[in-house]
Amino acid sequence: MTIYAHITGWGMSLPDKILTNDEMATFVDTNDKWIRERTGIESRRIASDEDTTASLGAEAALKALEMANLNPHDVDLVIVSTSSPEHIFPSTASLVQDRIGAINAGAFDLLAACTGFIYALNLATQNIRSGSIQNAVVIGSETLSRLIDWTDRTTCILFGDGAGAFVLQANETPGGVISSILRSDGSGGDLLSVPAGGSKLPASMDTIQAGKHFVQMNGREVFRFATRVMARASQEAMEKADWNVDDVSLIIPHQANLRIIDAAARGLKLPLDRFAINVQKYGNTSTASIPLATIEAFEEGRLQPNDKIIMVGFGAGLTWGAVAAIWSGPLPTEKPVNFTAQRLLAAIRSRILRLYRRIEGFIWGRGKSA
Ligand code: UT7
Repeated sequence: MTIYAHITGWGMSLPDKILTNDEMATFVDTNDKWIRERTGIESRRIASDEDTTASLGAEAALKALEMANLNPHDVDLVIVSTSSPEHIFPSTASLVQDRIGAINAGAFDLLAACTGFIYALNLATQNIRSGSIQNAVVIGSETLSRLIDWTDRTTCILFGDGAGAFVLQANETPGGVISSILRSDGSGGDLLSVPAGGSKLPASMDTIQAGKHFVQMNGREVFRFATRVMARASQEAMEKADWNVDDVSLIIPHQANLRIIDAAARGLKLPLDRFAINVQKYGNTSTASIPLATIEAFEEGRLQPNDKIIMVGFGAGLTWGAVAAIWSGPLPTEKPVNFTAQRLLAAIRSRILRLYRRIEGFIWGRGKSA
């Protein structure tokens, strides 16, 4: 019996604050015309003090679970793909698992930069198709605005914050994620990086003064790399799925730069209207960009059940990859899950567990000193 991994729910979460190009031009040496012409970006969302990578990711995940009508208790795996994790550890995925009340799930972060969502989809799919798990939540979440040097016009105009999530579920009906290709070329690691804050260059006065905790990028080289790999990766995923380009209804590319998407379209000999594009509204939300663009395409009526789609990304690492999938939608379920109660329960459970741990620690400590 073959098991397939269907995309049965999706949700997104965006910070309220919209930062336009004109507003940006008031504090950094740039202008709306340059940004639009060179990138296609018109505005981006910026996380408030209350928004975190876990809070945005959890909100997106809860919406996705609600759409799939899947009880958080039935989630087996939570993967958060992110380049802006809340900490080196604990993983942002564990924080999300707690917030959504996925009490029976394993959780981990995946770092493949802007390609991360593609890698995470592949991983969740392989787990489901092997029969090892039934249900996974895959989240791309970023608060990259916290890692940006807001005086550096070559990077700060590009990035934005947000999160998107998919629920993947096992089902015997053919469909869901059909093929994927994952690639990496670490020789280009220096082209796009946050150099300090890891074990090689731990935080110090020197690293802070040198701005090494901010995103640094060789834009031209990353641009050249991206235009080389996007069409090729899409083509490879199609070949692996045994599809040709005419079978595909929609290509959902990583939203980094309209000119890069345009180059991919030319590489595939497809008109731009076969691509999902929302870079103008949100800028480059890194690993969140593919789920955000997919969900908006669905909301615009551009995705129907059984449509064949390609999701394709590139990013730091260097990494790139593509997924060929058949769009599904929620599986039939018997009993509606009460998500208001689930949200409340998850919050109460988390508080009780913390309190219990403190009381237990106190009693255990007293017992030891007696
Ligand atoms: O998820 C992956 C993340 N990264 C990417 O996808 C980045 C890929 N690269 C790009 O998207 C483009 O390379 C950029 C948008 C970053 C830059 O566009 P470009 O057409 O490659 O510009 P450039 O770096 O060649 O710079 C052209 C000119 C320079 O001035 P001069 O030397 O020609 O006088 C820059 O100083 O534009 C200037 N410039 C700006 N001017 C106004 C660079 N940034 C800005 C700016 N506003 N924000």
